[in-house]
Amino acid sequence: MFGASGQLGVELVHELRVRQYEVKALDRAQVDITDAAAVESALAAYDAEVVFNSAAYNQVDVAEKEPQAAFQVNALAVRNLALACRQVDARLVHFSTDYVFDGAARHPYAEDDPTHPLGAYAVSKLAGELYAQAYLDRALVVRTSGVFGPGGLATARGNFVELMLRLAGTGQPIRVVEDHVASPTFAPLLASRTVDLVQRGLAGLFHIGGGTPISWFQFARMIFEVAGFEPTLLATNEREYRTPARRPKYSALSNARMERAGLEPMPPLKQAMEAYFAERKRR
Ligand SMILES: NC(=O)c1ccc[n+]([C@@H]2O[C@H](COP(=O)([O-])OP(=O)(O)OC[C@H]3O[C@@H](n4cnc5c(N)ncnc54)[C@H](OP(=O)(O)O)[C@@H]3O)[C@@H](O)[C@H]2O)c1
Repeated sequence: MFGASGQLGVELVHELRVRQYEVKALDRAQVDITDAAAVESALAAYDAEVVFNSAAYNQVDVAEKEPQAAFQVNALAVRNLALACRQVDARLVHFSTDYVFDGAARHPYAEDDPTHPLGAYAVSKLAGELYAQAYLDRALVVRTSGVFGPGGLATARGNFVELMLRLAGTGQPIRVVEDHVASPTFAPLLASRTVDLVQRGLAGLFHIGGGTPISWFQFARMIFEVAGFEPTLLATNEREYRTPARRPKYSALSNARMERAGLEPMPPLKQAMEAYFAERKRR
């Protein structure tokens, strides 16, 4: 497992160990996936059956200033992983993003909807998908959206829930865009559905989103409702709140292919949010 200490990585490691798999969890300090030789020797040393890559360069706005850095991690490093998996005949499980779409659709995106990334991060993630599939016939590529998990409490990058709680702590009004819709995804559920796909021996492209299309403004409202806070929350929009990277206005993901494969549908988002806060308290 590469990127094992990220928000999704910690949940994947946990889920696999609960299911009695032996896991070698490698974080960036142990293996930097941009180092092809280090990836190759890690795979040669561990004789893995399945290789999970939850490492990523996720700074969507910063990527506009340093597209090469995003491309190194999200694309060329995936090529390193795919080539190394090919050498030892291991299966690769890789993660991608709803941002490969341009947001012109008004229905949750299916796996075969045309991609049209809008910025450097999104281009690099789409290239990563292609590299995984170029060198391996049976790579599993999972696209997800707005990941939030208790692992985010310990990562530098955190997640949207923790950002909202931090902003609420300042006592200032909080402005959140209401014209961008995604399908926020609870990391432990993403990990468990991914392992379900792997156990079924499935390959190819799958969407695993949270199952509830929602604007970021409404999502923030849900967070404060579940947290029991009442900060001043104001709706804003893309025109007022400019960011360096363009983002799709609508990027909810359809989980229909995953469900057709026999996996349990995602629970309502509010239930996942309650689980997040319960787990947050426990840790
Ligand atoms: N978070 C979201 O909202 C979101 C949305 C859509 C898709 N995704 C995708 O979901 C997957 C998991 O994301 P996440 O939320 O778990 O991200 P995360 O919390 O930012 O974790 C990413 C991990 O990758 C590590 N990493 C970065 N560069 C590396 C390198 N060169 N070598 C080895 N490790 C490296 C990071 O280590 P450092 O902390 O040391 O940098 C971090 O531990 C990614 O593929 C991401 O693109 C995420």
